[in-house]
Amino acid sequence: MSLLRVRGFDVHKGYLEPARQAALIEALRGVLKAAPLFSPKVPGGGRMSVRMTSAGQFGWYSDTSGYRYAEQHPSGRGWPAIPDEVLSIWRALTGLERLPECCLLNYYGEGARMGLHQDKDEADFSFPVVSISLGDDGLFRIGSQTRGGKTESLWLNSGDVVVMGGGARLTYHGVDRIRFKSSRLLPKGGRINLTLRVVT
Ligand code: SIN
Ligand code: MN
Repeated sequence: MSLLRVRGFDVHKGYLEPARQAALIEALRGVLKAAPLFSPKVPGGGRMSVRMTSAGQFGWYSDTSGYRYAEQHPSGRGWPAIPDEVLSIWRALTGLERLPECCLLNYYGEGARMGLHQDKDEADFSFPVVSISLGDDGLFRIGSQTRGGKTESLWLNSGDVVVMGGGARLTYHGVDRIRFKSSRLLPKGGRINLTLRVVT
């Protein structure tokens, strides 16, 4: 385990040991069963290459009318609770009383990526976003607070946890590509990223 500071993000390399990663995947099975993955439409008309779902009071949602948080999965049901195994990572790394109201689960299959963006659909940017990587390696790109300019990339491996907070809370970030089947954590391959967010 080691802590890197990259453009204001705290990157905890190897934060979760393999047994804990496996326990998280086990806990997420229940989330995926209650709230299956879907491919959100984007305002431009296409669909994201990443499939997603959420746990918590709110789920992040996107369609042709924009990005927002929703209280229901597209099925019309509420989102499942955020597993305790996930909340304990938030507690340990942030030390905050306040708990996240959304755990967004992004699944990257072969060829999936996520363009550079800011996480800015939340009401209060004084709370950090905590990002947990599981499964295949992902090439994470970090920019600055404004679009354009220099960026820096690093590989996130299974078990790494990134805290995006403080002055870097609105820093642009994205995932250029994954190394499909680089990890054996998920039997069918792919990468899961969890982001924990205080929404209201
Ligand atoms: C995100 O920004 O929502 C996902 C980041 C990642 O997949 O590492
Ligand atoms: Mn993001």
